[in-house]
Amino acid sequence: MTTARVLTEAGARTVEAPLELIELSGDLVRVRLTASGVCHSDLHVAAGEWTAPLPMVLGHEGAGIVEAVGPDVSTLRPGDHVALSWYAQCGRCRQCRQGRAWLCTGTESTSHLLPDGRTSLSDAQGAPVHAFLGLGTFADATVVPESAAVAIPADVPAGVAALIGCAVTTGVGAVLNTARVRPGDSTVVIGCGGVGQAILLGLALVGADPIVAVDLSQERLEHARSLGATHLLRGDDPDLAAHVASITGGGADHAFEAIGRAETVALLPTLVGRGGQAVLVGMPAEGVRAGIDPFDLADAGKAVLGCNYGSSVPAVDFPRIARLYRSGSLPLDALIGVTRTLDDVDAALGDLRNAVGLRTILDLTA
Ligand SMILES: NC(=O)c1ccc[n+]([C@@H]2O[C@H](COP(=O)([O-])OP(=O)(O)OC[C@H]3O[C@@H](n4cnc5c(N)ncnc54)[C@H](O)[C@@H]3O)[C@@H](O)[C@H]2O)c1
Ligand SMILES: [Zn+2]
Ligand SMILES: [Zn+2]
Repeated sequence: MTTARVLTEAGARTVEAPLELIELSGDLVRVRLTASGVCHSDLHVAAGEWTAPLPMVLGHEGAGIVEAVGPDVSTLRPGDHVALSWYAQCGRCRQCRQGRAWLCTGTESTSHLLPDGRTSLSDAQGAPVHAFLGLGTFADATVVPESAAVAIPADVPAGVAALIGCAVTTGVGAVLNTARVRPGDSTVVIGCGGVGQAILLGLALVGADPIVAVDLSQERLEHARSLGATHLLRGDDPDLAAHVASITGGGADHAFEAIGRAETVALLPTLVGRGGQAVLVGMPAEGVRAGIDPFDLADAGKAVLGCNYGSSVPAVDFPRIARLYRSGSLPLDALIGVTRTLDDVDAALGDLRNAVGLRTILDLTA
């Protein structure tokens, strides 16, 4: 059994419900959840910007403690502390075999199902309930395939472990894996929410310079400075591209979009200098299209890169990030805002919509 917040209709409040967890078999793992972040991807579904099968338990940025494992599980034992991956790789497809777990074509996570096509959750009448991206962390327990649960040291706080499950791995991975930023490269980040802040920490880690942060919220900009941004610009600055060009000496080597808006996606290549790259991390509402200037891309040798999950392999990158946190190189506590209980999740989604505060952590042990 798990107590969960269930979304039954886009745009409506979630409702609390007791749900049945699927019985363990094969490589399934039952995790007692300790913390969940609230990410804009949850909001995309809650607001109806992404279609999803309802009813659904949202939440995909979570951590917990393994409670029980199926007979085929080999890497985890009860009591292990885990961060959850929202992209459980199949391990068999061409992308997985090439080491690109973040592009797996065999995953059922994006259908919000277990690898065998069943839902992990059902209601009191036995009707299926979907778990967002196969996780459904707005609950006190979940059942996931082994490849979605990665052991991390028990001394990493639950809230930090939860953020490693999405925003941190996405943002730090965008810098280290997708863009491969080098010390001294010039950079700009548009959108300094949870994911953008993790990008900033990644840029500070590798010694990018300058690091230009762009947001509409003064609070977010001030926070960006404390995370290592060297210059702050407003997203509604009509001369944004000119200001970035003057700070970076002709345009950034790497520009990151971490919002998912057509306007800022279209703007991104204009912030990049000759031979630079525009990295798309934000994910727009379904159907959004953004214009580009092909002549400029060709003439200036600019690249546009898509970035799913920070081009990360969770089994490799979660422990790597945990080590960087423990050594003090990635001060991830600085990303955490208020802590709320599970029944406050709608308020947390409201804060996210209004860009109020930092990342909310749900304390699922409360
Ligand atoms: N690529 C991936 O694998 C991946 C993973 C996680 C999240 N995402 C996506 O990343 C995006 C960001 O997620 P988040 O949780 O950080 O969201 P968030 O709501 O915490 O942050 C968005 C930020 O953008 C700012 N913003 C909005 N409009 C702006 C503008 N015109 N100019 C400048 N700043 C502006 C807001 O003030 C806010 O600080 C979402 O689309 C989410 O779905 C992608
Ligand atoms: Zn997320
Ligand atoms: Zn695969």
